Amino acid sequence: MENYNQGKLFPETLSAEIRDKFYYMDEDYTGYKRIFFENAGGSLRLKKCLERYAEIEAIGDCPSRIHQVSMNLKEIMAQGQQDLRRIFGVSDKGSLVTCFTASQVMFEMTRAIAESVPGTNIVTTQLEHPSAFDSASQAARKLGKELRVVEPNQETGAADADAIAALIDENTSFLSVIYASNISGSILDMKEVVAKARAKKPDLFIICDAVQHAPHGLINAEELGLDAVNFAPYKFFGTRGFSVGWVSDRVSELDRFQRIIFKPNNDWSMGSTCPAQYGSVTELVNYVAWLGSHFTESKDRTDLFRAGMENIKLHERALLHHILEGTAEIPGLRHIDGITVHLDYKDLTTRDLILAIEIEGLEFKEAVKEFEKNGVIVFERVATSYFSKRVVEAFHLKGAVRVSPLHCHNISDVDAFLKIATKVAAEAKNK
Ligand SMILES: Cc1ncc(COP(=O)(O)O)c(C=O)c1O
Repeated sequence: MENYNQGKLFPETLSAEIRDKFYYMDEDYTGYKRIFFENAGGSLRLKKCLERYAEIEAIGDCPSRIHQVSMNLKEIMAQGQQDLRRIFGVSDKGSLVTCFTASQVMFEMTRAIAESVPGTNIVTTQLEHPSAFDSASQAARKLGKELRVVEPNQETGAADADAIAALIDENTSFLSVIYASNISGSILDMKEVVAKARAKKPDLFIICDAVQHAPHGLINAEELGLDAVNFAPYKFFGTRGFSVGWVSDRVSELDRFQRIIFKPNNDWSMGSTCPAQYGSVTELVNYVAWLGSHFTESKDRTDLFRAGMENIKLHERALLHHILEGTAEIPGLRHIDGITVHLDYKDLTTRDLILAIEIEGLEFKEAVKEFEKNGVIVFERVATSYFSKRVVEAFHLKGAVRVSPLHCHNISDVDAFLKIATKVAAEAKNK
């Protein structure tokens, strides 16, 4: 079998076609030429997603009437719902949960589970985004349960299945665990996490925040046996203002606060939804399926989507390898004097394209400013920010500069970034 630890780049012609499908690849909306490596905070956008959104949103009709246009809108929503299920890797079982933000989705799903599933403790990890951590800790506080928090692996930046399972017992109400770290890109071995956790409690409810992992690889929520999972289209080449979760059949049946009485249990929608958001999701899946069509003969939409995501993963892994190692002429981050890559380890098959770096002699905010001046957008994850504090401190860090490219980037982008990183690090040393 081919060794894909170093990934596999898209052919150059395909890469060029991909770039053409995104807005603001090389410069921002003001015309400033820059490389956008902050996709973990909101990704570059697919033109088609926005065009389709505008097209549908121009139609004001309610999608639950019997006139033709209304029925067309209903069909757009039905297609979008099927495509959302493709993204989660689930059949027609369970329910979709929609809100403005992924945080709201997480709070909604966590509350439903926490309030109905008995147990005296809740297990989560230090790696969680505040939406998962705080919804779990709030539930623990309100319901008088113990909150057990798993410490991450200091080498890989992930949380190990054994460490998670060690905190689970027959009195655990639920486990809430992130799919991949939003600071280092480390992917948790979810298969092993689920297996080891359920070895301790076979009917354990498991919530998984897949917001950072979703644009980089398949989720497979049903095969994994997850009970609740979420993602945000705005980090997945789509639009802001819409985030989605999926809950299993047994969660769908649970009592919950936000529920319209006359609706069936498995319908978690509430109020007037936005057909344009569903149309935009369909464009997103169209795009990934188009990508997939370069790698499989299958005409099946799910196969195409899966092939697309698998090859996004491989291309990104090749970029990750290049950004770390570079070449003899342009050294990679591992080899630039004055740069440290935190939570860096060899097995790239368990890492998404997100890196945490530090530049000697530069505060994190200063480093981000220096990068911007030189034409690169990155983000500081610092202990003084509520969103980063718990995670960076779990690794005994004051912070990190997060570098998060996307599959639409190529080797030239990475080389340009590496040259700038070398310059910024050298200037910091000579300050
Ligand atoms: C891992 C993870 N989960 C959840 C969220 C929350 O997303 P939102 O801000 O859309 O609520 C984020 C946002 O950055 C995230 O990185």
